[in-house]
Amino acid sequence: MTQAFTPRVFSGIKPSGGLTLGNYLGAIKRFVGMQGQMETIYCVVDMHAITVWQDPSELANATREVAAGYLAAGLDPATSILFNQSQVSAHAELGWIFNCVARVGWMNRMTQFKDKAGSSAEKASLGLYAYPALMAADILLYHATHVPVGEDQKQHVELTRDIAAKFNHDFKVDFFPRTEPVIDGPATRVMNLRDGTKKMSKSGESDMERINMTDGADLIAKKFKKAKTDPEPLPETLEGLKDRAEARNLVDIYASLSDSTPEAVIAEYAGAGWGRFKPALADLAVEKLAPMGDEMARLMADPAEIDRVLAEGSEKARALAAPILAQTYDIVGLLRGR
Ligand code: TYM
Repeated sequence: MTQAFTPRVFSGIKPSGGLTLGNYLGAIKRFVGMQGQMETIYCVVDMHAITVWQDPSELANATREVAAGYLAAGLDPATSILFNQSQVSAHAELGWIFNCVARVGWMNRMTQFKDKAGSSAEKASLGLYAYPALMAADILLYHATHVPVGEDQKQHVELTRDIAAKFNHDFKVDFFPRTEPVIDGPATRVMNLRDGTKKMSKSGESDMERINMTDGADLIAKKFKKAKTDPEPLPETLEGLKDRAEARNLVDIYASLSDSTPEAVIAEYAGAGWGRFKPALADLAVEKLAPMGDEMARLMADPAEIDRVLAEGSEKARALAAPILAQTYDIVGLLRGR
């Protein structure tokens, strides 16, 4: 018989560089949408960030900035647990156990490691390679059943399911749930504004490639105005956007920002040229993003308050994690005092 797990959401964002429109639409906005529907736990995964070099003098502030993004977007620390990973040592402890469950062959298939380590994989940190096992620990430490993420994290959530299944099988238990990735809505893969074949990321070469959650109104408008497009007007149907990656991306962004669908956006703007669509998109983005950017700046002016929220959230997270880690130790046969 399989155990029934209480529906519970877990997700996280790395504090490495600023938050982008990709993080907002692909993750944070959707985190807010799930709040109140079931138990929600949202983490700033600082231990993941250090798998690549982070300047110690900047990491704490980058951690606060992700927390400020969560709060400014509408996550409420009274409803959701908001915390940073390194304050809950059980993540690292379960991560080690999963390092011993996951197989090297599984890790070798992870496309993100290949992309990030590139041709210099020999010089990548061992942590970057083992990263997906720590991510599985983040999720399974809370027996989370639902994980809202962007498309790029799908493979890691699938690996989490494999780790849970192997653990349950090896130890003949039904202890960890088979977590579902939740990848829905029009903006699960927001693309680079200068090259529609590349994902929008924190670390792209030019700042014009991305919208940052902290960009002011003028800069947001300028970036959309300069976004790469093709000479054609918007088509009559969504099929007409096939092979038009940049155009499709802007339509998807518009749909997500307006809580609509790409079909509805195309219906409204069929035949419109960029001279009409781009300013409409820029206005919409400014209307939605600029107040959040202002709120983030206001929150960042009081770091002690953010630290207090994260410390309080960490305490709640530790309370949920402790019994699950203790049972895991018992299942594995690790001796602990009682
Ligand atoms: P990270 O920090 O790279 O990204 C955080 C979230 O933002 C989404 N995202 C995007 N979505 C759409 N379009 C984009 N261009 C875009 N860029 C980023 C990501 O898919 C992600 O949902 N390994 C994770 C962090 C993590 C995690 C976890 C997530 C650690 N433990 C447990 C869920 C559950 C990462 O590096 O995300």
